[in-house]
This record gives sequence, structure tokens and C-alpha cells, in this order.
Amino acid sequence: MLHSILEERLRAAFATAFPDTDVGEITVRPCQNPKFGDYQCISVMPLAKKLAAEGEKPNPRPIATNVLEALDVADLCEKVEIAGPGFINFYVKVEGIESVCKAAARGEHLFFEKTRKPRTIVIDFSSPNVAKSMHVGHIRSTILGDALSRLFRLLGHNVITDNHIGDWGTQFGMLLVGWKEHLDQVALEADPIPELERVYKLVNSLTKTDKVVADRARDELVKLQGGDKENFGVWKKLIALSETQFEEMYARLGVKFDHALGESFYNEKLPGIVEDLLDTGIARVTDGAIGVFSDGNLPKKQDPFLNQKDGEWVGIPALVRKKDGGFNYTTTDLATLEHRNSEWHPQEIVYVTDDRQQQHFQQLFAAYLRWRPETSAKLAHVWFGKILGDDRKPLKTRDGDNVKLKDLLNEAEERAFRIVDEKNSELDEAAKREIARIVGIGAVKYADLLPHRQSDYVFDWDKMLSFSGNAAPYLQMSYTRICGIRRKTEAAGHDASIQPDLLKLGEEAEIALAKKLLGFGLVLDAVGEDYRPNLLCNYLYELSGLFSKFFEQCPVMKSEAAIRRSRLVLCDLTARVIEQGLNILGIETSEVM
Ligand code: ARG
Repeated sequence: MLHSILEERLRAAFATAFPDTDVGEITVRPCQNPKFGDYQCISVMPLAKKLAAEGEKPNPRPIATNVLEALDVADLCEKVEIAGPGFINFYVKVEGIESVCKAAARGEHLFFEKTRKPRTIVIDFSSPNVAKSMHVGHIRSTILGDALSRLFRLLGHNVITDNHIGDWGTQFGMLLVGWKEHLDQVALEADPIPELERVYKLVNSLTKTDKVVADRARDELVKLQGGDKENFGVWKKLIALSETQFEEMYARLGVKFDHALGESFYNEKLPGIVEDLLDTGIARVTDGAIGVFSDGNLPKKQDPFLNQKDGEWVGIPALVRKKDGGFNYTTTDLATLEHRNSEWHPQEIVYVTDDRQQQHFQQLFAAYLRWRPETSAKLAHVWFGKILGDDRKPLKTRDGDNVKLKDLLNEAEERAFRIVDEKNSELDEAAKREIARIVGIGAVKYADLLPHRQSDYVFDWDKMLSFSGNAAPYLQMSYTRICGIRRKTEAAGHDASIQPDLLKLGEEAEIALAKKLLGFGLVLDAVGEDYRPNLLCNYLYELSGLFSKFFEQCPVMKSEAAIRRSRLVLCDLTARVIEQGLNILGIETSEVM
């Protein structure tokens, strides 16, 4: 926040000293090493290169000197220095920090700015499959995608979320056979998804040994694709049953979508797309199927249509039509991309899935750009690693099944309840259940967002439910504690209303905390640039740590009135940043815990 004020002033000074420079390139960022000040500008060197005449050596220091003459930051900085080859270092005054904090306390901002260049960003996330339980693999996509959506929205972008549900494909042939021949109605009514999974698994294994069953499944699929009334009806029912389950999970996770255009939405477009790819020479027939191959325009290592095998490069086509005439995942995704571009005109499309789909998206993006070279949208595959069990293998139940999201969330709430019950036995049952819900769901989400998204992480209940380590309960507790300070101050008969102008930073712990608050916006920008909510997790953890230090060293309630009022402002700002930060991560807070 303070950095952007300094940046603005520095740009103005640059424009005065060197009217022809492109001041948009000038940035001020926090200094990595506090020895060299609080903020730093390193943009003088590249600008000096541009300002130097042909053949002349760039000379940044005199440029920086001229700029400093035109710069007025006396109200914010103790000193400004030119260092090294031409860095400009800013040493901030306490009054400078105070003024930004006061503006935040007045509600003018919360240490971040809305973007000046709003983009339309489509985010494709969660995207579970019909007639299957959502499993922990979908949890990362859902949680990560939701956090990114919340962040971009908060920063002022036009975000469109789309749940690309897997509601079409060969699995429906088997599901149809299962539905017609093996369904246990009682089980279906009791809990539909496990029953659908059971018959699917059964038929799927039968098709492997029994040709009659395999043919039946194919026939049912062909009938469905041909619009057969009965099969279409069953398919609709399967979707409705799954939707109920998905909705229940999304409600618990607090996740909403603008659209849920499943794969089936694109059915009619697929034949035309394949024709077009053939006509333009982007795809060709291979072994009876149709696929997109390397066009040889990329270096081999970067070519998604080539893989190295035993030292040789082998072609890996992206298939768009199978031998039997059916279409592939890539075909649907090409149609989806086309639809999103023509319908929403986004500047960016983000896909959130696990690491196993990397080659799929590389091929998809490459094929699409060959087909639609005029595309200007940035296409990003935001992939993530696996959730591992204690044995460091992908998390499974004791029976070797995928862990179901529902069971996981139930257990999280149950474990959280036991902790809350122990800590707060005086609360009534309903209140304890509500806190347990907030803590349990928050813990699961935070555990998922804290590691770098591309690394695998070990699922650990004790760690994620910790009230002292880097975990959601600890941050939620910090927020609750701060709310408690104000309540207690009021209860003691003091005026605890927030008076922004009474903020006065004196102690080191106060200044350190306030400086951290100032950095909130930069962290949010960094999260958006790299799609990395873990940066925000770590920021909030550090902020809470600085708050604890402040609270140990700087009494609030017991201080004299002026200091108390000032510290209450700082408490309030910290609580608001923690609350906002957790909200971006999709994590709720509670004033009592
Ligand atoms: N349904 C897919 C799965 O469960 C994920 C879909 C991701 N989105 C996409 N446009 N391909 O693996």
C-alpha cells in the first residue's frame, strides 16, 4: 500500500526529470534486506539503458540523482538513498506507516488495491464425474479453484466460474447395463452414489472377461448417443442423483459456480470440430482414429505431441475421434474452449486439475492455438500434487478405496468437535457444533492450501487441527482472541470504539505488526500472479505471530487511555486482515470459539 504511494510519487518525479520515459515500468517493492531500507526501486537501471544514447554506456546513478531532486516524500520517509549501481532505497517514517493504517481504519482500503486493469477470467474447477463420489482428488481442485476465484473477484476482476462436470462418455454404457440389470433399489434409495459405483464396478469388470456384456454396454451407449428415450431418461436420473450429492458438498464447502456446463453440453459441436480439424490439416487419420500430431514447430523438448522413449522421440497424438466414431476428452475440451471464448471473451482461462492432466492441457492449448491462431486469452493449467497417507502413498481407506470427500469432512467436524468440547465445555451443544463445523472444514481447506500446490502433501489430522502451529484453527483463534480483547475492554467500562486518528505507533512490536499489515496487498498480487494461495497462508501465519508478539509486549486493556485506544485500532486492523485473508481462502471465522 505504502509502496504504491511511493511508486506513484516516484513516477511523477521521473516524469518531471525525464519527460520522455515510460514511467509505467517504475516499481517500488519491499526491500528484501531491512538494512537497505523498507522499500526499494530497482527500475532505474533498465530505464538508464533506454535513456542512454546509441553506443553510450548507461549511467543510472546521475539519473537517480536527478529524479530524487524532483521527488517529494518527506511526509512518508525519513530518508531516501541511492545505493549500488542505482537502486533507490526508501526508509519509511513511522508517520508514513501510521497514515496508511489510519486510512485503512477509516475504511478507505484494507491494504490492497483493486486492479486497474480488470480482466475477464474463466476458472474451470472441481469438475467431478457423474455417478461417482467426489473424492479427495476433487477436494484440491475445489478448494484451490474457489480460493483463486475469491481472490480475483476481490481484486476487481470479472470472474466466471464453470464446473465442467463429467456427464458423458463410455462409462454411461456400463452404468446403463448396471442400472437395468443389477440395481438394488433399496440400496439406491438409501444412498444412491455408492450403489451406482457398485454396479459400475461390477459391469466394468464383467466387460473385461465377458464379450456379451461388453457388447451390451456398447449398444446401450450407442442408443443413448442416438437419443433413445429410455436411456436418455436413465441418464437424466443419474445426473440428478449426482447433482444432489455435489450440491451437498458444495454447500458444506461454501462453494458456488456461475455455470455448470458439463461435457454433454458440447455433444452437438463435436462432429463439426473434427471435420474442421481434418479440413485444415490440423488433425489426420491414424489407425482408423483421428488425432492431432506434432507440427514440428516447437523444440522437441517443449512439444506436447512428442515423448521421449528409450532415447527416441515418439509421436503422441491427441485423439479427437476414436475408431468406433466416439469422441475424446480433448474434443470436448476444444469445444469448451471455443464456447468460452466466443461467449465470454475472457483474457484468461484457468483450469484447476491434478498433475496427471499436464500433457492433456499442453496438447489441448497447442491444438487450440493451431486451430484458432487469433486467440489472445492466456490459457493456464494450474495443476496440483497428490494427497498422501501416512505411508506416503496416495491417500486411501483401509480397504484400499478412494477416500470420500463426505467422510473426510464428517471426520474433520467430529474431531474438531472433540477439541471444542474439551476446551469449551460450558457452551451449549449447538454452539459447539457450529464452531466445530467452522474449525473442521477450515482445517481441511487450509491444510490443502498451505503446501506449494505442485507438491504432494501428507494428510495429518493432528497437524491440521492444531491451535498453535501453521494451521487454520490457530489463525481462527487469533481472530477470535482479537475480537475478545475489544469485548473485554468494553466490559471493563472503557470506550472501545475505533477512532482511526488515535493510532500512534511507538513500540517496536507495534511498528513491526503495522508494517506487516501494509504488505497484505502485495501478497494478494503475488497469489494471483502465480496462482499460489500458499503465499497468503504463510503471510497470515506470520501476521498472527507478529500479533502475538505485540500482544505479549504491548498491553491493551491495562494501558492508559490514549495508548489503549491506539492499540485497539491496531487490533481491529489485524482482525480485519486475518478475516479477509481467511475469507479469500474460503475459511470462516467466529467471534467466539
Ligand atoms: N472431470 C475431470 C476429472 O475428474 C476434470 C475436468 C477438468 N476440466 C476440463 N475442462 N477438462 O478428471
